[in-house]
Amino acid sequence: MSKTHVTTTINGEPTEYLCEASQSMLDVLRDELDLTGTKEGCGSGDCGACSIIVDDRLVCACLMLGAEAEGRRVLTIEGMSHGDKLHPLQQKFIEMAALQCGVCTPGMLIAAKALLDRNPNPSETEVRFGLAGNLCRCTGYDKIVRAVLDVAAEQRETTR
Ligand code: FES
Ligand code: FES
Repeated sequence: MSKTHVTTTINGEPTEYLCEASQSMLDVLRDELDLTGTKEGCGSGDCGACSIIVDDRLVCACLMLGAEAEGRRVLTIEGMSHGDKLHPLQQKFIEMAALQCGVCTPGMLIAAKALLDRNPNPSETEVRFGLAGNLCRCTGYDKIVRAVLDVAAEQRETTR
């Protein structure tokens, strides 16, 4: 079967790959590009573990075709930190123990980033709503929500 040639940008890097027409973006990231930080939970759009940001929109990579990344800008968890410097959300998740097994964590962080990018001053309800598509079986959500609210407050302080 012939493959589709895709030219895209992933985590700021111009990227090309070949994929099957039916191959999901999640499988392309993990199997073709070795970007295994993006996790597969359900494979059906229900858990958010595979969350990525495509052209500033939060997307479930398991529901997107690899071919649909053509000409787009994709951000995965690998692009959240800069070298050894963690994104403030990553740092805060560690400080506040907002993770346990970590399977949901990459998707949770990406969803939290997407939320704060479009709403730097979210209420607790808005944070819970923004993360409603991301399931965690370990933490009970409160530490995650507190971590996101803390980062939002700190970022508002530094931009004053
Ligand atoms: S693996 Fe994509 S939403 Fe669960
Ligand atoms: S930390 Fe285990 S599923 Fe969220």
